[in-house]
Amino acid sequence: MAILKIARMGHPILTSKAMKVDDPTSSSVRRLASDMLETMIDAPGVGLAAPQVHVPLRVIAFRVPPVREDDNQSVPATVIINPEISPLSDLKEEDIEGCLSIPQMVGMVPRYKKIRYQAYDLNGQKLEVDAEGYHARIIQHECDHLDGILYPMRMRDLSKFGFSEEFSKIEDSHVDRN
Ligand code: NI
Repeated sequence: MAILKIARMGHPILTSKAMKVDDPTSSSVRRLASDMLETMIDAPGVGLAAPQVHVPLRVIAFRVPPVREDDNQSVPATVIINPEISPLSDLKEEDIEGCLSIPQMVGMVPRYKKIRYQAYDLNGQKLEVDAEGYHARIIQHECDHLDGILYPMRMRDLSKFGFSEEFSKIEDSHVDRN
Protein backbone atom coordinates (compact mmCIF):
# COMPACT_ATOMS: atom_id res chain seq x y z
CA MET A 1 0.00 0.00 0.00
CA ALA A 2 1.15 3.50 -0.77
CA ILE A 3 -0.23 7.00 -0.64
CA LEU A 4 -0.05 8.39 -4.17
CA LYS A 5 0.59 11.97 -5.31
CA ILE A 6 -2.59 13.73 -6.47
CA ALA A 7 -2.46 15.76 -9.70
CA ARG A 8 -3.82 19.30 -9.47
CA MET A 9 -5.89 21.23 -12.02
CA GLY A 10 -3.55 22.37 -14.80
CA HIS A 11 -1.82 19.00 -15.11
CA PRO A 12 -2.66 17.64 -18.59
CA ILE A 13 -3.60 14.16 -17.31
CA LEU A 14 -6.72 15.70 -15.73
CA THR A 15 -8.06 16.81 -19.12
CA SER A 16 -7.19 13.59 -20.97
CA LYS A 17 -9.49 10.64 -21.64
CA ALA A 18 -8.56 7.53 -19.65
CA MET A 19 -8.26 4.07 -21.25
CA LYS A 20 -10.45 1.04 -20.60
CA VAL A 21 -8.98 -1.65 -18.34
CA ASP A 22 -8.56 -4.93 -20.27
CA ASP A 23 -8.38 -7.21 -17.23
CA PRO A 24 -10.05 -5.93 -14.02
CA THR A 25 -8.66 -8.96 -12.13
CA SER A 26 -4.97 -8.28 -12.88
CA SER A 27 -2.55 -7.85 -9.99
CA SER A 28 -1.55 -4.38 -11.24
CA VAL A 29 -5.19 -3.21 -11.06
CA ARG A 30 -5.52 -4.74 -7.57
CA ARG A 31 -2.41 -2.83 -6.44
CA LEU A 32 -3.69 0.40 -8.00
CA ALA A 33 -7.09 -0.09 -6.30
CA SER A 34 -5.51 -0.60 -2.91
CA ASP A 35 -3.28 2.48 -3.31
CA MET A 36 -6.22 4.59 -4.50
CA LEU A 37 -8.33 3.60 -1.47
CA GLU A 38 -5.47 4.46 0.88
CA THR A 39 -4.88 7.79 -0.89
CA MET A 40 -8.61 8.69 -0.85
CA ILE A 41 -8.98 7.92 2.85
CA ASP A 42 -5.76 9.74 3.75
CA ALA A 43 -6.69 12.89 1.77
CA PRO A 44 -9.50 12.66 3.09
CA GLY A 45 -11.95 12.51 0.20
CA VAL A 46 -15.11 10.71 -0.89
CA GLY A 47 -13.88 9.85 -4.37
CA LEU A 48 -10.72 9.49 -6.42
CA ALA A 49 -10.26 8.64 -10.10
CA ALA A 50 -7.10 6.97 -11.44
CA PRO A 51 -6.12 9.98 -13.63
CA GLN A 52 -5.95 12.04 -10.40
CA VAL A 53 -3.05 9.80 -9.34
CA HIS A 54 -1.41 10.03 -12.81
CA VAL A 55 -2.74 6.67 -14.06
CA PRO A 56 -4.73 7.01 -17.33
CA LEU A 57 -7.12 4.07 -16.66
CA ARG A 58 -10.90 3.89 -16.13
CA VAL A 59 -10.78 3.06 -12.41
CA ILE A 60 -12.49 4.98 -9.61
CA ALA A 61 -12.53 4.74 -5.82
CA PHE A 62 -15.40 6.22 -3.84
CA ARG A 63 -17.37 6.04 -0.62
CA VAL A 64 -20.72 7.50 0.30
CA PRO A 65 -20.72 8.53 3.96
CA PRO A 66 -24.05 8.12 5.76
CA VAL A 67 -25.90 11.41 6.00
CA ARG A 68 -28.19 10.00 8.64
CA GLU A 69 -28.01 6.81 10.64
CA ASP A 70 -30.89 5.26 8.72
CA ASP A 71 -29.42 6.31 5.35
CA ASN A 72 -29.65 3.45 2.88
CA GLN A 73 -27.56 5.21 0.22
CA SER A 74 -24.28 4.94 2.16
CA VAL A 75 -21.52 2.87 0.52
CA PRO A 76 -18.24 1.74 2.12
CA ALA A 77 -14.94 2.55 0.36
CA THR A 78 -15.14 0.73 -2.98
CA VAL A 79 -13.21 0.51 -6.26
CA ILE A 80 -14.97 -0.01 -9.59
CA ILE A 81 -13.57 -0.50 -13.09
CA ASN A 82 -14.76 0.68 -16.53
CA PRO A 83 -17.88 2.39 -15.11
CA GLU A 84 -20.65 3.57 -17.44
CA ILE A 85 -23.52 5.83 -16.44
CA SER A 86 -27.03 6.22 -17.80
CA PRO A 87 -29.35 8.87 -16.33
CA LEU A 88 -32.71 7.45 -15.18
CA SER A 89 -34.45 10.78 -15.79
CA ASP A 90 -33.59 14.19 -17.22
CA LEU A 91 -33.96 15.77 -13.79
CA LYS A 92 -30.83 17.54 -12.55
CA GLU A 93 -30.12 19.22 -9.23
CA GLU A 94 -27.42 21.67 -8.18
CA ASP A 95 -25.29 21.12 -5.12
CA ILE A 96 -21.89 22.05 -3.81
CA GLU A 97 -18.82 20.00 -4.83
CA GLY A 98 -15.13 20.00 -4.16
CA CYS A 99 -12.30 18.03 -5.76
CA LEU A 100 -8.98 16.74 -4.43
CA SER A 101 -7.37 18.09 -7.64
CA ILE A 102 -8.73 21.61 -6.96
CA PRO A 103 -7.78 22.09 -3.31
CA GLN A 104 -9.60 24.62 -1.14
CA MET A 105 -12.17 25.43 -3.85
CA VAL A 106 -15.86 24.54 -4.15
CA GLY A 107 -18.61 25.19 -6.67
CA MET A 108 -22.30 24.60 -7.38
CA VAL A 109 -22.59 21.85 -9.99
CA PRO A 110 -25.68 20.46 -11.74
CA ARG A 111 -25.86 16.64 -11.82
CA TYR A 112 -28.47 14.05 -12.73
CA LYS A 113 -30.53 13.20 -9.66
CA LYS A 114 -30.96 9.50 -10.51
CA ILE A 115 -28.59 7.31 -12.49
CA ARG A 116 -27.87 3.68 -13.19
CA TYR A 117 -24.23 2.66 -13.44
CA GLN A 118 -22.56 -0.49 -14.64
CA ALA A 119 -18.99 -1.44 -13.85
CA TYR A 120 -16.72 -4.37 -12.93
CA ASP A 121 -15.32 -5.19 -9.52
CA LEU A 122 -11.82 -6.51 -8.83
CA ASN A 123 -13.08 -10.10 -9.27
CA GLY A 124 -14.30 -9.30 -12.78
CA GLN A 125 -17.96 -9.44 -11.67
CA LYS A 126 -20.30 -7.06 -13.45
CA LEU A 127 -22.23 -4.68 -11.20
CA GLU A 128 -25.36 -2.72 -11.97
CA VAL A 129 -26.39 -0.12 -9.40
CA ASP A 130 -29.17 2.47 -9.24
CA ALA A 131 -28.08 5.57 -7.33
CA GLU A 132 -29.59 8.89 -6.44
CA GLY A 133 -28.67 12.11 -4.69
CA TYR A 134 -25.21 12.30 -3.18
CA HIS A 135 -24.27 8.77 -4.30
CA ALA A 136 -25.23 9.60 -7.90
CA ARG A 137 -23.35 12.93 -7.68
CA ILE A 138 -20.10 11.29 -6.52
CA ILE A 139 -20.23 8.69 -9.33
CA GLN A 140 -20.89 11.39 -11.97
CA HIS A 141 -18.01 13.51 -10.64
CA GLU A 142 -15.58 10.55 -10.72
CA CYS A 143 -16.70 9.31 -14.14
CA ASP A 144 -16.17 12.83 -15.49
CA HIS A 145 -12.52 12.56 -14.39
CA LEU A 146 -12.20 9.51 -16.71
CA ASP A 147 -13.25 11.72 -19.63
CA GLY A 148 -10.98 14.63 -18.70
CA ILE A 149 -13.79 16.77 -17.27
CA LEU A 150 -13.35 18.74 -14.03
CA TYR A 151 -16.39 20.05 -12.14
CA PRO A 152 -15.86 23.76 -13.01
CA MET A 153 -16.35 22.69 -16.66
CA ARG A 154 -19.90 21.56 -15.68
CA MET A 155 -20.83 24.73 -13.82
CA ARG A 156 -23.55 27.05 -15.16
CA ASP A 157 -22.64 30.03 -12.99
CA LEU A 158 -19.00 30.72 -12.17
CA SER A 159 -20.03 33.25 -9.53
CA LYS A 160 -20.77 30.13 -7.46
CA PHE A 161 -17.14 28.97 -7.67
CA GLY A 162 -14.77 30.03 -4.92
CA PHE A 163 -12.73 29.24 -1.84
CA SER A 164 -14.56 26.93 0.55
CA GLU A 165 -13.39 29.08 3.46
CA GLU A 166 -15.29 32.06 2.04
CA PHE A 167 -18.44 30.02 1.34
CA SER A 168 -18.36 28.57 4.85
CA LYS A 169 -18.53 32.12 6.26
CA ILE A 170 -21.85 32.59 4.42
CA GLU A 171 -23.46 29.24 5.23
CA ASP A 172 -22.37 26.68 7.75
CA SER A 173 -21.65 24.08 5.08
CA HIS A 174 -19.42 21.06 5.18
CA VAL A 175 -18.01 19.96 1.84
CA ASP A 176 -16.52 16.57 1.04
CA ARG A 177 -13.87 16.43 -1.63
CA ASN A 178 -13.64 13.93 -4.46
NI1 NI B 1 -12.51 15.29 -8.32
